[in-house]
Amino acid sequence: MNHIKAVITGVHGYVPDYILTNEEISKMVDTSDEWIMTRIGIKERRILKGEGKGTSDIGAEAVKGLLEKTKTKPEEIDFLICATVTPDMQFPATANIISDKVGIKNAFSFDLNAGCSGFLFALSTATAYIESGRYKKIIVVGAEKMSSIVDYTDRATCPIFGDGAGAVLLESTTENFGVIDFNLQVDGSGKIHLHQKAGGSVKPASHQTIDAKEHYIYQEGQPVFKWAVSKMADVASEIMKRNNLTSEDIAWLVPHQANMRIIDATANRMGLNKDKVMINIQKFGNTTAATLPLCLWEWEKQLKKGDNIILAAFGAGFTWGAMYLKWGYNS
Ligand code: UT7
Repeated sequence: MNHIKAVITGVHGYVPDYILTNEEISKMVDTSDEWIMTRIGIKERRILKGEGKGTSDIGAEAVKGLLEKTKTKPEEIDFLICATVTPDMQFPATANIISDKVGIKNAFSFDLNAGCSGFLFALSTATAYIESGRYKKIIVVGAEKMSSIVDYTDRATCPIFGDGAGAVLLESTTENFGVIDFNLQVDGSGKIHLHQKAGGSVKPASHQTIDAKEHYIYQEGQPVFKWAVSKMADVASEIMKRNNLTSEDIAWLVPHQANMRIIDATANRMGLNKDKVMINIQKFGNTTAATLPLCLWEWEKQLKKGDNIILAAFGAGFTWGAMYLKWGYNS
């Protein structure tokens, strides 16, 4: 019997219409387009506006578009995972709300939180379910309304993040395409450098936590940068080595979009030219669990069946990882 593999058979993305530019941010905090472009590499990011709208609205748009373009009926889906750090609410899972919004009825679903590595962790989870032979069609969606946890008076974090979602359809195949290998890592001691102080069971929401601005992202930029720059490059080059891949063998690197300097360091370590690296940080910023599928969505037309692709990410947790896959279709 042929071994079952998990292959991406479609990708779709969604970003809200509102564009928050560096010029507008420069009016909110003491910063400049020049500083943000030099230190991070972001020009603008998308923000979801409108009362009562959350991550599930962004995620549902991506999933709806994915179902339409792959001509898949909602009832064909077995399972949906939503990778997010900005769920609609603590419970129920945003994955369930997305499923309900798009009419997925015959499936189970859950959220997965692995910070900016969330999409990679979710795709690996879905891969294992497919490879087991138990399920045939799974949607993995990375969706974030990062603007809901950004302090727009803090110049160290507010230029970085944006809202958006990307979704892929993962199916089973007996051909030699799809996910070949992945390497995922965590180190929980990294919590001190990047977290949300209140709103969980340790420090439930109170007037004090609101006054102390403890529901926003807390990030110590420099230590996070140091970890990200080394771990993302380590894990990406490690996955190349253990699959005997040289830089010539790789068609595309899909890196998490946190900082242009981290992307450059990863590509350099892998020996890749910039023209093989998907980069859209300048227009979407860091959309956390949505960066990787948003890249795949934007580059989909350029991808060819059989292309060797490396995905790499680093995020809160700390979490990091890389995946090697063979692209499964020409669009
Ligand atoms: O996706 C999840 C993982 N997250 C990451 O990968 C983020 C990793 N970290 C980073 O990307 C960078 O550390 C930041 C972009 C967050 C910050 O850049 P940096 O080059 O590490 O700056 P810094 O924190 O060392 O700050 C340098 C200076 C400070 O001023 P002083 O103390 O030297 O006077 C900051 O106050 O830059 C100042 N600064 C700013 N200046 C103008 C910080 N933010 C700004 C700003 N505009 N927006």
